[in-house]
Amino acid sequence: MRIGFLGAGKMAEAILASMVKTGLVNAWDVMACDKAADRRALMEKQYGVIVTEDAAETVKQCNVLVLAVKPQDLDALLAGVRDRFTAKHLLVSIAAGKTLAAVKKAAGARPRVVRVMPNLALMVQEGMSVYCAAKNAKAADRALVAQIFGGAGAALELPEKHFDAVTALSGSGPAFIAYAAQAMIEGAVALKLPKDAARLLAEQTLVGTGIYLQNTGRDIAEFIQAVASPKGTTAAGLAVLEKSAVKAAYAKTLAAAAARSAELSRA
Ligand SMILES: NC(=O)c1ccc[n+]([C@@H]2O[C@H](COP(=O)([O-])OP(=O)(O)OC[C@H]3O[C@@H](n4cnc5c(N)ncnc54)[C@H](OP(=O)(O)O)[C@@H]3O)[C@@H](O)[C@H]2O)c1
Repeated sequence: MRIGFLGAGKMAEAILASMVKTGLVNAWDVMACDKAADRRALMEKQYGVIVTEDAAETVKQCNVLVLAVKPQDLDALLAGVRDRFTAKHLLVSIAAGKTLAAVKKAAGARPRVVRVMPNLALMVQEGMSVYCAAKNAKAADRALVAQIFGGAGAALELPEKHFDAVTALSGSGPAFIAYAAQAMIEGAVALKLPKDAARLLAEQTLVGTGIYLQNTGRDIAEFIQAVASPKGTTAAGLAVLEKSAVKAAYAKTLAAAAARSAELSRA
């Protein structure tokens, strides 16, 4: 396999870093194509990959191509190389909001296409990536994508019809969870906890709760009840969350993000 990154920005770098770390590719089998000289220099120095600003050459040399430019740059990029795609090419698009149909329309019918929605945590190798494949994709393509993105967190295949909800939950989710953490830090500072300590406590509580739930697979409602002993401190706090309709606010938050995702996909 020769893998090319069309667009070698932050996300491409995170994917590459994980692939090198997990031994999925050798640096000399990777081409990083970017129009920005500083990105090419960084990719070459840091990872020892072949760098170029020539997208057509990348397409010629590589059979797997990760499309990692901003969504608004994707059509122009693909228009310039579409004639060079053959049936040997697998396109892995991470462009947010670009549907399989939109990528196929811009890339032509020959290449196989998989769409991936990763999230920001990919950059610390703890991403949540959801993927869906076009009809012409092979089982081996899906397996490869699962391996690439699973190496930098978790990867799950879902039908494309779920992508707006996915975008809301795991795509935008890091901001929604950070918002809750920020609110808890501000609440603790109001209780005179030093800000640095409040941040550390909130972060570690977030990480620890996530790992605990993931490792135990424990039912979340049952977990909450277990933390909240009757008439205890957690119960006192939970009563305020219930009264403040926080669950309803989160439901509306996700619905708004999903609706915006649908809107952007149609644009
Ligand atoms: N960041 C996230 O959390 C996140 C989450 C999910 C999905 N994504 C998706 O990931 C993709 C990449 O995001 P990113 O944050 O890594 O973007 P980024 O850091 O801006 O990287 C994109 C790079 O591609 C270059 N580029 C643009 N057009 C090009 C072309 N025709 N040929 C070669 N290089 C070109 C850009 O150069 P210039 O800067 O000079 O234009 C830039 O260096 C986006 O489509 C985004 O929707 C990102």
